[in-house]
Amino acid sequence: MNIAIDGPAGAGKSTVAQKVAAQLGYVYIDTGAMYRALAWAALEADLDLADESAVADLLRENRIYLRRNGGSQQVFWNEQDITGLIRTPAVSNAASIVASHGQVRAQMLNLQRQLAAEGNVVMDGRDIGTHVLPDADVKIFLTASITERAKRRLTELTQKGHSATLAELEAEIEARDKRDSEREVAPLRQADDAILVDTTGHSIEEVVEQLLDICKKSGD
Ligand code: CDP
Ligand code: CDP
Repeated sequence: MNIAIDGPAGAGKSTVAQKVAAQLGYVYIDTGAMYRALAWAALEADLDLADESAVADLLRENRIYLRRNGGSQQVFWNEQDITGLIRTPAVSNAASIVASHGQVRAQMLNLQRQLAAEGNVVMDGRDIGTHVLPDADVKIFLTASITERAKRRLTELTQKGHSATLAELEAEIEARDKRDSEREVAPLRQADDAILVDTTGHSIEEVVEQLLDICKKSGD
């Protein structure tokens, strides 16, 4: 069984996907981390993010590797562990720019399908139910109000010692959701057969329970 979880920024996808995977004994695959890794490397190399061939070549000539580390996931760019470097607002923004390129998405699609080839994965992103795993057994579209999503990000960044305001984060998330939804290749969209789960006002535990329930019912 494969489970696809899509939705906008800050909906709680990675947090709940990881817990659902742990409960089911499945492998968790964070596709956003792959776009973030490429964006981080493109920023490091000082590439023009809008230059599709340059960014696609960078991905082709290097290796992104996801490694499980207990309940969480480590992200490597070649031999370098960049897990702690890819969650900044600058990388978020750059990720959504590099993710708009068709040549980049085609390579990512191949990598992601290879990762899911053995089955029993929980994969989260923007286009998993619509493009990467269109035959997934369970498809969830996770969302929450923009204010709640920005508040969650604010708490997260503050805990890590970064400073930001709620208004800044709302603007950043809105701009990114807009770009992700309006791009030509594999835009952020709820698959026709996905179940919509609005997490506004719901704790992580409640959402995890709800998702496990949906998985259980689909397996019955
Ligand atoms: O992956 P995505 O951007 O959709 O969201 P995330 O990174 O999993 O979650 C963003 C933040 O919201 C994390 O700090 C979670 O702990 C928090 N969260 C929450 O407070 N309540 C939820 N129901 C889900 C996530
Ligand atoms: O955690 P958050 O939801 O903020 O972002 P993420 O899931 O780490 O994804 C970062 C960016 O990568 C998104 O804004 C998208 O532009 C891109 N992305 C994508 O295009 N397709 C995916 N399957 C996953 C991420």
